[in-house]
Amino acid sequence: MASKLRHIFTGLLILISLHWTVSVSEEELHASYWNNKARQALHTALNVQPDVHQAKNLILFLGDGMGIPTVTAARILKGQLAGHSGEETSLVMDTFPHLALSKTYNVDQQMPDSAGTATAYLCGVKANYGTLGVTAATPRYNCNATYGNEVTSILHRAKKAGKSVGIVTTTRVQHASPGANYAHTANRGWYADSYLSPEAIQDGCRDIAYQLVHNTEIDVILGGGRQYMFPVDMKDPEYPTSTGDREDGHNLVEEWLKNKEKAKYVWNKAEFDAVKPANTDFLMGLFEPKDCRFELDRDLSMDPSLAEMTEKAIKILSKNKKGFYLFVEDNGRIDHGHHGGWAKRALYETVEFDKAIGRAAELTSELDTLSVVTADHSHVFAFGGSSARGNSVFGVSRSLAEDRKHYTTAVYGNGPGYRNGTRPDMNESISSADDYRQQAPVPLDSETHGIEDVAIFAKGPMSHLFHGVQEQNYIAHVLAYAACLEPYENCELPPPDHAGSIHPSLLLLLMGLLLHYFCSL
Ligand SMILES: *[C@@H]1O[C@H](CO)[C@@H](O)[C@H](O)[C@H]1NC(C)=O
Ligand SMILES: *[C@@H]1O[C@H](CO)[C@@H](O)[C@H](O)[C@H]1NC(C)=O
Ligand SMILES: *[C@@H]1O[C@H](CO)[C@@H](O)[C@H](O)[C@H]1NC(C)=O
Ligand SMILES: [Zn+2]
Repeated sequence: MASKLRHIFTGLLILISLHWTVSVSEEELHASYWNNKARQALHTALNVQPDVHQAKNLILFLGDGMGIPTVTAARILKGQLAGHSGEETSLVMDTFPHLALSKTYNVDQQMPDSAGTATAYLCGVKANYGTLGVTAATPRYNCNATYGNEVTSILHRAKKAGKSVGIVTTTRVQHASPGANYAHTANRGWYADSYLSPEAIQDGCRDIAYQLVHNTEIDVILGGGRQYMFPVDMKDPEYPTSTGDREDGHNLVEEWLKNKEKAKYVWNKAEFDAVKPANTDFLMGLFEPKDCRFELDRDLSMDPSLAEMTEKAIKILSKNKKGFYLFVEDNGRIDHGHHGGWAKRALYETVEFDKAIGRAAELTSELDTLSVVTADHSHVFAFGGSSARGNSVFGVSRSLAEDRKHYTTAVYGNGPGYRNGTRPDMNESISSADDYRQQAPVPLDSETHGIEDVAIFAKGPMSHLFHGVQEQNYIAHVLAYAACLEPYENCELPPPDHAGSIHPSLLLLLMGLLLHYFCSL
């Protein structure tokens, strides 16, 4: 009797689970589907050859706060936005052949920030929390301790080697991640002179915006951050009630344009669209006073997307025969979405970030361009719970929690999603709202970074050096080595394989055609 009941129960379970797997496609029920798919992947893997040539171009895509759960959830979201169940979708970064894990801690902190980590992956040296372009001998806020402790970035070294260099970001261009490309500062918050401490001013430290314009010459600068560039008595062109932040009277955009030929400054989409790469060598575009808006809230008529900025930058920088270095960051906004406890904002940003990676892949060749995608650190964003195949990324569990209520499969370990008192019940129409903050058990006004490793995805010359579990500062060393930049000028790598720009399969096709021609004579 008991076993009969158990059979009925199991039958019911199977029925229920079949009911829940409605979005499974029929082909996935066959072993042949999975065997063929894996056989194709195996075939691809067997053909992966290390490309031991010099990289002419370097592109570093930085997903600020893009931990692995964020990558997975963004992949599913990308698929779901295209009308699929999502899990089986590939992000562009998923197709990169070489991967490693990156240990992200700062010298003085287990949980890192974007400044110390940017110093590691851009300058090749780990640093303290909150500091940019200096060694860990510089404690945060100590202006005097920056002198003699500066470390130089891949951007600086690429420029020195004659390459064109650029920064594209959806945050302010003076933000920590782009900032480590050009600035040396004891505090990431010193955006304009009015943000410096009195001691720092007295001891001669310069703000980050000033350094953007007066350190290494940067050919393309695109992002937000207008307010740090202009004097306090200057009104913002888009928001006339706000003004610049500078008390020293400098107009840094004017200073940047001075003594440059074919140089342009733009602050809106129409001006940006009108920029012709063919007759522009220097471009600065600052589209918001602080950070650009979240992709979900972007004003399509005023601000270009990350992919559009990336495309324009590559078209300008790639005119240089010696190649280019480009830093692309979206992510400032992935990070800010997570800090706000808004998974939807963070994940839409990540999908947009992947689009920019795809656009760059269309405009460059794997034969001469080393492309690297990574994150500076993770977040306490978690993605799990009982969910059927194809469940919305912003949806709820199918079974109830111990409190007889639903819960979202995306949650945070801490942050503004905390609710005082009893946990409210949840349904997908509530949790799919743009402004919905996923629940968190610990009340914090800003959700925190995570401590676990992040992924490094790489393709192109020398990308096989990304393997294993590495310290984060290893990234800058691989970039420098691959492009034979300081201190690896003697890397002795042969130039990019341009003969190889005829694809082997094309060569076979040509031979086939010739053979066909001769045989038909
Ligand atoms: C920085 O160094 C200068 C010169 O040695 C000194 O006068 C000044 O007091 C120092 N500043 C701080 C905050 O210690
Ligand atoms: C939670 O609510 C209680 C009772 O209203 C209040 O005393 C307490 O300060 C609140 N805690 C937080 C973290 O808001
Ligand atoms: C979701 O919950 C809200 C608030 O309890 C309720 O008003 C709404 O009808 C629910 N929607 C669905 C689809 O159950
Ligand atoms: Zn952050």
